[in-house]
Amino acid sequence: MAYERSVSPSLLAADFADLGTAARQAESGGAGSLHLDYMDGHYVPNITFGIDLIPALKRVVSIPLVAHLMIANTRERLGDFIRAEPDFLVLQEDAIRKPHTLLGAIRDGGIKSGLAINPSRPLKRIHGLLPHIDMLLIMSVHPGFGGQKFMPETLDKMKEAHELRTRDHLGFELAVDGGVNPDTARDILGTGANVLVAGSAVFGTDDVGKAIRGLLNL
Ligand code: DX5
Ligand code: ZN
Repeated sequence: MAYERSVSPSLLAADFADLGTAARQAESGGAGSLHLDYMDGHYVPNITFGIDLIPALKRVVSIPLVAHLMIANTRERLGDFIRAEPDFLVLQEDAIRKPHTLLGAIRDGGIKSGLAINPSRPLKRIHGLLPHIDMLLIMSVHPGFGGQKFMPETLDKMKEAHELRTRDHLGFELAVDGGVNPDTARDILGTGANVLVAGSAVFGTDDVGKAIRGLLNL
């Protein structure tokens, strides 16, 4: 199976006073999707956006919206997020108890499902769930903030995930999130991962399109 490479800029690093412009710049700059880091101040010590950001962004861009839920009450809030109709809903595998139920509810809502796995968590915990997801988000930093240093010890997990999806002919997107930049992207892409989530390396520059192309052309 061929897995298309793309960049998914994280709005966490964008100008919060002008997210619409950031979204449009990402789209016109060649982003394959937009990464929305939802944080509730409980699961992580940071608070970001409300659910209404999703319909607001859908009015200004047409690229897929990937909502990454770093929230403590995932099950209770999932219905609200499904009704907002992002393209992907990515849940923290360590923050949920009934993954099959929640992943099924997402897909039943016509939305692509995803799981995020933190640096300290072994992939074998979710082997059985891989056929039920459309995106696996390998966290290469501890969740909560942008601008952190890439954790190279997560490269092996990316390799393992790519080997599993190739062996089992699974179609999930293998995305990497945290500290992705021109220096780390080469090793990341070398593992077989195909979606680069990047905040600072895209919105922290003065040319969003150039930053996106730079990551894609590595
Ligand atoms: C961290 C978020 C990441 C972060 C990436 O909790 O999930 O998406 O915004 O930001 P950079 O690319 O700056 O590390
Ligand atoms: Zn994220």
